[in-house]
Amino acid sequence: MKVLVLGSGGREHALVWKLSQDKSVTDLYCLPGSDAISAIAHTIPGDPSDPRTVLAACQDTGADLVVVGPEAPLFAGVTDALREKGVAVFGPSRAAAAIEGSKAFAKDFMARHCIRTARYGVFRDYAGAAGFIRTLGGRAVVKASGPALGKGVVVADDEKTALEAAEAMLVKEAFGAAGQEIVVEERLEGEEVSFLVITDGDRVLPLLAAQDHKRIGDGDTGPNTGGMGAICPLPWWTPARQEQVIERIIKPALAGLKAEGRPYSGVLYAGLMITADGPAVLEFNARFGDPETQPLLRLLDANLGELFYQVAQARLETNTLAWYKGAAAGIVLAAAGYPGEYRRGDVIEGLAEAARVPGVTIFHAGTRRAGDRWLTNGGRVLNVVARGRDLPSALASAYRACELIRWPGMQYRRDIGRRALSF
Ligand code: AMP
Ligand code: GLY
Repeated sequence: MKVLVLGSGGREHALVWKLSQDKSVTDLYCLPGSDAISAIAHTIPGDPSDPRTVLAACQDTGADLVVVGPEAPLFAGVTDALREKGVAVFGPSRAAAAIEGSKAFAKDFMARHCIRTARYGVFRDYAGAAGFIRTLGGRAVVKASGPALGKGVVVADDEKTALEAAEAMLVKEAFGAAGQEIVVEERLEGEEVSFLVITDGDRVLPLLAAQDHKRIGDGDTGPNTGGMGAICPLPWWTPARQEQVIERIIKPALAGLKAEGRPYSGVLYAGLMITADGPAVLEFNARFGDPETQPLLRLLDANLGELFYQVAQARLETNTLAWYKGAAAGIVLAAAGYPGEYRRGDVIEGLAEAARVPGVTIFHAGTRRAGDRWLTNGGRVLNVVARGRDLPSALASAYRACELIRWPGMQYRRDIGRRALSF
């Protein structure tokens, strides 16, 4: 089977890496891929969100299956264009991906289908938003409704911060078009979980519960990022909790999407807050999480190409997924300045030594090769992933590898997994 992966980040590096181990995958392509991905797949230049570019790549390569990594191609209708031409594709339609693409749609959808989520209002005017923020007593989360790469979210501790965020988005247009409409939510308290399922719209194959670390700083401080590290499985997660999430959240979401004429297939990512009153949805994503995918795929014991092909053909026959025993942890190494303006072009040292730490696999999120050197070329630069017999040992290996890597201004969190281990 010839497989074409869309995307270029750490998640896509991990997807390509895992697909390259599936014997049924004979040829592996990635559009546009990256210098690191080009070591294990043929890379094809171009915009993965342009349907014509992707269709042309399918024709050139004879791809039997297209796997969509990031959300942008979904929102641009690439999966629809491929299906129209009879190409098997792993990823939801544009209509189904609205569950991620429009926070306003997602919140209204959850209300319609009785899926628990934070109380919210959708606003285009500052006065309305400010009024709602005041009723929440300042315990508010202010989000740009459109896609803003996980950064258009301000979790406020007080009224002033929330009002300023609403003003920045609606009046000062800090997020451009993405922030012309905002969602203001009640701030939920609890433990965050990334719960992902592979689905053909009817059948559901859960992945291990994972946890991301969204803030830039240790102890969950500082601004939100795309994610600074992830672990799986989550030590305190239970089968009973999982059943509850599937019954109350995943199944109603899939049934609701189908009933509304937006049948879903691909991977559905539920970002959950486990509150004192049970699970609530913070967000749905229509794709694999980044950086959760990197440790998840490190533990998955399955032929990914075959699994994706089943989903693409709407006949998911695999009943359960097998996992390597133990745990995996992924630490994100970020560039100086991230999540703000960050620097590019710094020389990365110590990569080869780090890769030799037992159990460690390094995925590249934002790098570029210059001769025999690797340079930083993104905000999140590397994902240092380790597998171990348990979470502490996976973390110890991952951090040992991180300590061997350096470039000017490199930053990473030193406390990935610590919160999960404290329960
Ligand atoms: P989102 O992009 O909607 O997932 O928001 C990014 C991050 O903001 C989430 O991963 C949470 O850490 C935090 N967050 C979002 N919504 C809420 C909420 N209603 N209550 C508490 N934290 C939230
Ligand atoms: N890890 C957060 C996300 O992929 O949206």
